[in-house]
Amino acid sequence: MVTTRELRDRAGDEPITMLTAYDAPTAAVIDDAGIDVILVGDSMGNAVLGHDSTLPVTLEEVQSRTGAVARATEDALVVADMPFLSFGVDDAESIENAGRMLKEADADAVKIESGPHTVELTRRLAQLGIPVMAHLGLTPQHVNQLGGYQRQGTDPDAAEELLELAREHEEAGAFSLVLEHVPANLAAQVTEALDIPTIGIGAGPDTNGQVLVITDVLGLDEWSPPFSKQYADLRGEMASAVEAYKREVERGEFPADEHSHVEDDVDDVY
Ligand code: KIV
Ligand code: NA
Repeated sequence: MVTTRELRDRAGDEPITMLTAYDAPTAAVIDDAGIDVILVGDSMGNAVLGHDSTLPVTLEEVQSRTGAVARATEDALVVADMPFLSFGVDDAESIENAGRMLKEADADAVKIESGPHTVELTRRLAQLGIPVMAHLGLTPQHVNQLGGYQRQGTDPDAAEELLELAREHEEAGAFSLVLEHVPANLAAQVTEALDIPTIGIGAGPDTNGQVLVITDVLGLDEWSPPFSKQYADLRGEMASAVEAYKREVERGEFPADEHSHVEDDVDDVY
């Protein structure tokens, strides 16, 4: 079982591997492969819920998907992403919402898109026993504020501010930090400055670990960011399977004899 403590202890030794998952079968494959951390990301909005941003994703959606992932996971650390406005509006509500991910959905930790407004929340959650993965750089819940998904921390002031926020979240008790879409030299500098592990996406090679969105890795998306890497063509595989099924039904080839005489074994099948 991967723990937040183990990840903290490992920072700088073996690279940490992290992927997103939004359902049980995908989580089982990722867990069996020995990936350290499974993030039930609010990227589910774009990746599997058909939205064009993460903003519409609800607490209930992340909670339900986290439950599915946690039930299928034996070893990996399961981290539930806190969706837009489920934290940061009101302290009591933020704590209750984060707590539900652990109490009701069996997550091991939560991730929060961080900023000056999440330092004290991170401290409070850590005190209560809710481990927090911080997230700096590009924070997609700010897309309307940012006017797009640009790289962050590109000028010296922004870089300095990011480094300071990273330090403050570590001091507040975050057990790790995601760095998204920032210059590689800034990610390296933050990684050097912190004791807790940094996990990068579009942040170069010098973080303590890497994370990608599973649908990008598997080739399920129509579009994926240039800093991602596609390791399979599942969209193509799915299309050929569905087309083959359609063809066989239309030609009367499915069901064949072996699929047509199952009455006696029906109890075994279900
Ligand atoms: O929601 C998500 O998938 C994320 C990762 C890209 C870090 O926040
Ligand atoms: Na996210």
